[in-house]
Amino acid sequence: MGTVLIIGAGGVGSVVTHKCAQAPAVFPNVWLASRTIAKCEAIRASVRAKTRRAINIARVDADNVPELVRLIRRVKPRVVINVALPYQDLTIMDACLATGVDYLDTANYEPPDEAKFCYKWQWAYRRRFKDAGLTALLGCGFDPGVTNIFTAYARKHHFDAISHLDIVDANAGSHGHAFATNFNPEINIREITQRGKYYENGRWVVVPPLSRHCTFDFPGGIGPKEIYLLYHEELESLAKNIKGARRMRFWMTFSENYLTHLRVLQNVGMTRIDPVVFQGREIVPIQFLKALLPDPASLAKNYTGKTCIGCVIHGTKKGKARNCFIYNICDHAQCYKEVNAQAISYTTGVPAMIGAMLMAKGVWKQPGVFNTEEFDPDPFMAALNTHGLPWKETFPRKGFEGFVEQRS
Ligand SMILES: NC(=O)c1ccc[n+]([C@@H]2O[C@H](COP(=O)([O-])OP(=O)(O)OC[C@H]3O[C@@H](n4cnc5c(N)ncnc54)[C@H](OP(=O)(O)O)[C@@H]3O)[C@@H](O)[C@H]2O)c1
Repeated sequence: MGTVLIIGAGGVGSVVTHKCAQAPAVFPNVWLASRTIAKCEAIRASVRAKTRRAINIARVDADNVPELVRLIRRVKPRVVINVALPYQDLTIMDACLATGVDYLDTANYEPPDEAKFCYKWQWAYRRRFKDAGLTALLGCGFDPGVTNIFTAYARKHHFDAISHLDIVDANAGSHGHAFATNFNPEINIREITQRGKYYENGRWVVVPPLSRHCTFDFPGGIGPKEIYLLYHEELESLAKNIKGARRMRFWMTFSENYLTHLRVLQNVGMTRIDPVVFQGREIVPIQFLKALLPDPASLAKNYTGKTCIGCVIHGTKKGKARNCFIYNICDHAQCYKEVNAQAISYTTGVPAMIGAMLMAKGVWKQPGVFNTEEFDPDPFMAALNTHGLPWKETFPRKGFEGFVEQRS
């Protein structure tokens, strides 16, 4: 149904490329472009080995709009999938507008010099995409992305009103390194070290970083894990689009070992995002740290264990209180077998491919800028089951608090 152009040859970009190559009826031509051509070449070789398909590759600096416009005019894609970094969101949206092409990403824009991610910069493009008759789909990874769709699906099928949402994200895997992040270290550490924030009774409550935690009993053999309250970007759009909810929170697991390393790195200044002078030149400590840490894509080979990401929802149906837990379990080793990736990249890359597929088929096509919960969740939920991320739903007697072992 069209050519797809994927920008960003990282861990997530590799999964998106493999999954698009697995769908030749939808994407007869697959292009991958990134800053480092060697990374595109490695992914092209892996895709050929796994799918026997030949993909096209190109070098591009996605900070440079004229360069992007030249590439898009040459490739003529039906949709551009942006899986570079959040810093490139606006330049790639500008290039899509200039060339008349639909846009999709998995993380919202943040300015490089300020650890502040929010949708205001991208939502400001609504009028321009609408006037151009183009669709921009924001945050179409797992969280954000599938977590928004799980919530929209629950609202459509299981609730008349949702009052409480708790998104829980566990990585119960083991990669064998003392310390590593599962996606881009710079983006990941900026996210975790900022203050926690959640939505309650129409306002945002801010708490010190990683200060709220409890134990959540995860399904799929994972069991009880310590989860920490974080601010996560889907809360911003869900608070707007799921009307009437009283509370929305996001929680993620971290091991004691991970938190100890992070605390030391913070204490010695290695997570700073402002430039410091080192041997006569400016460096940004967190970017230097990124150069020292394992490339998240390289963790895949020896990763074992599972991830579980889901939504614990409480609300009412026909006047009666009800709970629902919708979740996916993903196995690191199985992801490696299928596409040479670990589960964090896989759970992000598969939804990006499904979103682009629904856009290319015209199923999710509306002029403007949208978050995933604004479209009909049903075709996406069906595609998750057939493209590697099957989900389950349960209706527990107790809501989030019932899953949680309260700390004294
Ligand atoms: N929604 C979700 O569930 C979710 C979960 C995880 C990650 N994410 C998002 O997914 C995205 C990719 O993550 P990742 O772990 O794959 O990161 P990654 O491994 O660091 O990959 C990013 C890729 O983008 C390329 N890139 C960076 N700046 C570029 C530029 N100016 N022009 C062209 N290419 C550029 C990098 O190229 P070089 O190597 O040459 O620098 C790298 O290959 C991030 O935005 C992340 O926040 C979303």
